[in-house]
Amino acid sequence: MPADPGTFDVEAYRRQVEATAATVRERLRVVPRIGLILGTGLGTLADEIDVDVTMPYETLPHFPLSTVESHHGKLLAGRLGGVPVLALQGRFHLYEGYSPRQVTFPVRVLGVLGIETLLISNAAGGMNPHFRRGDLMLVTDHINLQGANPLEGPNIAEWGPRFPDMSEPYDPELRRLAEARALELGIKLQQGVYVAVTGPNLETRAEYRFLRSIGADAVGMSTVPEVIVARHMNLRVMAVSVITDECFPDALEPVSLEEVLAAAAEAGPRLAALTKAVVTALVPVTG
Ligand code: HPA
Repeated sequence: MPADPGTFDVEAYRRQVEATAATVRERLRVVPRIGLILGTGLGTLADEIDVDVTMPYETLPHFPLSTVESHHGKLLAGRLGGVPVLALQGRFHLYEGYSPRQVTFPVRVLGVLGIETLLISNAAGGMNPHFRRGDLMLVTDHINLQGANPLEGPNIAEWGPRFPDMSEPYDPELRRLAEARALELGIKLQQGVYVAVTGPNLETRAEYRFLRSIGADAVGMSTVPEVIVARHMNLRVMAVSVITDECFPDALEPVSLEEVLAAAAEAGPRLAALTKAVVTALVPVTG
């Protein structure tokens, strides 16, 4: 349901975000400049992080709690390839019943903490016929078909503008970096447009045909609200989708969550290697 601008208490929301950020700040000696969101089945990327501090979401005031079993809810502070990062292991989805503001609460917290760059991963269905299950897709642009927006309601001007620009949500420099590193590492990296739907059901054949026809290469149930909020706060964003199932309307087969998770797990090491390479290129490790 869209927030009613007359009743949504945006000041209370802001205080909650700031209280959570203060709690996290107290638990860290330095606040990293890079944030990560680890998507469905991609918690394996978390294994690559040398964790200094684990903050289960239930220990953070006001933080929503994950309801999906395949998502662990923890904020991790540590190093990836020697570079300090703050990683959200487990995200929130509209299909769980969270509002767009709740879904993006963790991104607001990272933004208020002073993160500059946000690297996002997700699982998505591949509609581009060149894509295969297990491929990685660098997101070049998105389409919001969730019928919801985390910026609805009163704007907090200190966080960002009322009408944020969306001409280039996915940072071109980060994309070039990802392409170059993928090439060096011998990792196949597809590129394309991600369309966000609410789910939780997967799409009908007619819907896949429609989504493909409006210009999307992959479809998923996350990421777009987080990107909108990150761009609102002027964070640099990169997103990579793991193609967990092939959504070709004329050859569609039923998909199970197990298969989605298996494809995500299989792609995990490649995603981890690519993410690590991007992170270390962003912040060259000295000494
Ligand atoms: N549709 C929507 N979301 C998804 C899919 C899909 O086919 N696969 C993984 N996430």
